[in-house]
Amino acid sequence: WAIHAPYVAAINTLKKERNAVILAHNYMTPEIYHGIADVVGDSLQLAVEATQVEGDVIVQCGVHFMAETSKILNSSKTVLIPDMAAGCSLAESITAEGIAEMRAKYPGAPVVTYVNTTAEVKAASDICCTSSNAAQIVRAMDSETVIMTPDKYLAQNVARQVPEKRIVWWDGSCIVHEQYTARDLHEFREWNPGTRIIAHPECPPDVVDAADFSGSTGGIIDYVTREQPEKAMLVTECSMASNIADALPGVDFVGPCNMCPYMKKITLEKVLWSLHTMQGAVEVDPAIADRARVAVQRMIDLSA
Ligand code: 13P
Ligand code: SF4
Repeated sequence: WAIHAPYVAAINTLKKERNAVILAHNYMTPEIYHGIADVVGDSLQLAVEATQVEGDVIVQCGVHFMAETSKILNSSKTVLIPDMAAGCSLAESITAEGIAEMRAKYPGAPVVTYVNTTAEVKAASDICCTSSNAAQIVRAMDSETVIMTPDKYLAQNVARQVPEKRIVWWDGSCIVHEQYTARDLHEFREWNPGTRIIAHPECPPDVVDAADFSGSTGGIIDYVTREQPEKAMLVTECSMASNIADALPGVDFVGPCNMCPYMKKITLEKVLWSLHTMQGAVEVDPAIADRARVAVQRMIDLSA
């Protein structure tokens, strides 16, 4: 912490001068999560918070699609992303043409698009979802066939929760969660009996099956806080366990984890630089933003 202290102090001073609010995803490093964030949360929580920001500037400590979502929902604010290259394998897997292709293949079926996508893709979709509300959104669609893009594993996991729908999906995946295998989890459990295994729904369905619980990053935090198991393995990004470990001294976080190279592009140094220079403002074409806002707002209204 000593090496982070000067950055944390400088950012917190500059944040006040700029009338800025820092929204940080649960995958940010502990020095960002605990040192400078005003609000922390999962994708849905951050999207809802973005609508309520009253300051002049939002600094999005997360990946580019999250900053775009904040800009779409609160367009009069300056939304800074400390590194424009903080992308996402899911967002990169599909374009608006891909949505059109799915619509042509399944005429009349609504398109439910994960928030991990560009504004153009959201604009071409009927409604968005996050990992915390995907099943609820799909259930609410007035059609037996529902197109889910771009995460095939989230879609397959939702298909099992909502068997009354025929769900078809795009072939995208998250490079962090697709690496886990059910075999890893079974072996870990065998050698570490009593471990509560908790997987994010971007993991393949057999991995989710091998876990005791599956939920969004916010859902995972709620579950571990409520259950306080002696040993917990979080089958998700590494910073999750680091960020909550201090608040849960009775829980031993065990097992391997995977790092998201995109999330890890956001550092204290880059946050300070973006607040200092006000560079890295995210812009969304107003016509695209208007259409994307309809899809995101429909999701927020349905999740309320
Ligand atoms: P949630 O925080 O909504 O669970 O999303 C996880 C994720 O991978 C974001 O990129
Ligand atoms: Fe994208 Fe996966 Fe990284 Fe989240 S963890 S930003 S879904 S690559």
